[in-house]
Amino acid sequence: MRVFFALWPDAATRTCIANAAAALRLTGGARPIPQDNFHLTLAFVGEVPNSGIAVLQQIGRSQRASGCTLKFDACEHWPEPQVVVAVAREPPAALLELWMRLRQDLALHQPAVRFNRAQPSLRAHVTLARKVAQAPVLQAMSPFDWSVRSFSLVRSDRGAAHSIYTVVDTWPLLDERPKP
Ligand code: 2AM
Repeated sequence: MRVFFALWPDAATRTCIANAAAALRLTGGARPIPQDNFHLTLAFVGEVPNSGIAVLQQIGRSQRASGCTLKFDACEHWPEPQVVVAVAREPPAALLELWMRLRQDLALHQPAVRFNRAQPSLRAHVTLARKVAQAPVLQAMSPFDWSVRSFSLVRSDRGAAHSIYTVVDTWPLLDERPKP
């Protein structure tokens, strides 16, 4: 099955993301992402055999990163993947730590799980629309906070129009460190 680690929004955060998506004026063949599919990918693993899921659950369970608050402050058009995304331009240290540790642990567990570490840095984003070939005019976004308390392993299946995502497992993050 095809899987990835992700932050999965709660209902309040999902509404904030949906508001940002609703403010986009997309034309042509743009394909808005259904609200239920909003997420922030931490590490895309791809196809794993059923036996690989236990390895991934062990990796998820062993993380010790803190929760954090992500400030989403802009929408961007990324021409190469042809997507419009909401971005947190300055992801907090705790999220970078989780992102880095997950990737290190995935690399350590090869070949039980295959993992391509090519992505050089975290671009903390939620995809709002795909197949956006032309750069749209993007208004300033009303910023919103995402209070991150957990992360998940998610399964992706192909649906007729959109991917179908199913949360396989979720792990809590440690209490958020108070700001110095
Ligand atoms: P995205 O996070 O930019 O939207 C599940 O398929 C998620 O993993 C999607 O959200 C997608 O991009 C990301 N993803 C899909 N294929 C990928 C790949 N080959 N490398 C990195 N991320 C991928």
